[in-house]
Amino acid sequence: MTAQVITITSGKGGVGKTTATANLSTALALDGARVVCIDGDIGLRNLDVIMGLENRVVYDIVDVIEGRCKLKQAMIRDKHLQNLYLIPAAQTRDKNAVSAADMIRVCDDLRAEADFVIIDSPAGIERGFRNAIAPADRVLVVTNPEVSAVRDADRVVGILEAEEKGAPALIINRLNPALVKNSDMLSAEDVLDLLGIRLIGIVPEDEAVIIGSNRGAPIASESKSRAGQAFRNIAKRLRGEDVPFMDLTPQSGLWNAIQRLARRK
Ligand SMILES: Nc1ncnc2c1ncn2[C@@H]1O[C@H](COP(=O)(O)OP(=O)(O)O)[C@@H](O)[C@H]1O
Ligand SMILES: [Mg+2]
Repeated sequence: MTAQVITITSGKGGVGKTTATANLSTALALDGARVVCIDGDIGLRNLDVIMGLENRVVYDIVDVIEGRCKLKQAMIRDKHLQNLYLIPAAQTRDKNAVSAADMIRVCDDLRAEADFVIIDSPAGIERGFRNAIAPADRVLVVTNPEVSAVRDADRVVGILEAEEKGAPALIINRLNPALVKNSDMLSAEDVLDLLGIRLIGIVPEDEAVIIGSNRGAPIASESKSRAGQAFRNIAKRLRGEDVPFMDLTPQSGLWNAIQRLARRK
């Protein structure tokens, strides 16, 4: 096995990088791939909570880099998926504890262990971001359909080009079809026109994403969720499958009501 290393970044904070990392890792693992996800947000550990693994954290990536533990000791196995692992970020250190060379070395060591290594990048374009993209074979840029998020994404796309990381693929997250229909939100086409990069998926705004995150159970494993389906589709595209984009035209009130009922436990 030689893992593909994929970094998920955005420029702006709060657009859904950690959500996308947890869900794409889960979806790839559900499909049978061996996946290691890395929380690259040193000092602001988050991915462990979203994946429901916070109680199992003993060692973190800085412990690996500074030789306090072996790589395998810092790999936390998912509660449900045997082929999914998390390497958590340090909570009491900052991004200066890690260098780009450290990240490349850790990922090189993981390449033999996995099919995919997915790195959750911190916000910004400073050192933490640079560390996160250093080992990437491929970069996914997440944005929301909002002007400020798109502007930050555009800046990141420019840096990735300058760093010769190749053209990233775009995830548009939290699209609300009803707002787009009323011209109250940028459409996917608007965002693509502004950024000029390839689209790999659109994830609708879905409160079930927040509920899943709070429960430590990424929505990708819920077969009925549309956002979960969107993440599963992106995972398939990452594996080279040609999956049609979902129809995100506004749903009728009746359909929304049925979906809400279906989600009730
Ligand atoms: N598709 C979505 N629908 C609804 N809420 C979402 C969606 N994606 C992300 N969120 C919520 O947005 C917030 C920020 O997401 P997060 O992944 O932490 O962003 P980042 O890692 O980019 O800072 C979280 O509360 C998350 O649950
Ligand atoms: Mg995050």
